[in-house]
Amino acid sequence: MRILFVCLGNICRSPMAEAVMRYWLKKERLEHLVEEAASVGTSGSHEGEYPDRRAQAAGSNRGYDLSSHKARRLHQSDFERYDLILAMDKENLETLKLACPLLYQNRLGLLLHFGPLAISEGREEVPDPYFGGVKGFERVLDMIEDGVGGLLLSLRDGQLGQHGTHPVPEDED
Ligand code: 4NP
Repeated sequence: MRILFVCLGNICRSPMAEAVMRYWLKKERLEHLVEEAASVGTSGSHEGEYPDRRAQAAGSNRGYDLSSHKARRLHQSDFERYDLILAMDKENLETLKLACPLLYQNRLGLLLHFGPLAISEGREEVPDPYFGGVKGFERVLDMIEDGVGGLLLSLRDGQLGQHGTHPVPEDED
């Protein structure tokens, strides 16, 4: 399973999601479940940049290391490479849907659809924290932890198909 997290600039939300995912895979000894966790932006306006300082600070306060990430723009080949492609918000999901070949549309989804807290609160999107303050980054990181935590449970319990967000069909007997 290869997982790609997607936001707009790839300097705030999706690098945080990638770092949270890597941290928990290692901590829970579930690395065998995910061959690759990566992140990209649908816009290339920050390509090559390190994550926003506020994202790095919020992450490192909780043990997540974002320091070596460099922003990358979504590439058409990502649709083939990644089995699960999770957007932070609906706008970026729409961008993905428009660019993604029909064959791979079932690989697309929203990160927070995996988050138990987000589901219970009816929240579907991780909002863009870029133009807000430091507190916004903490809130965004809370949401990302919820989504990634739920995703890890789904992966661990085998609730995801080999590709995409559709659950594995139950055996007929
Ligand atoms: P991200 O945040 O999509 O979470 O990386 C943003 C970063 C930069 C901009 C917008 C959102 N920007 O407009 O430059």
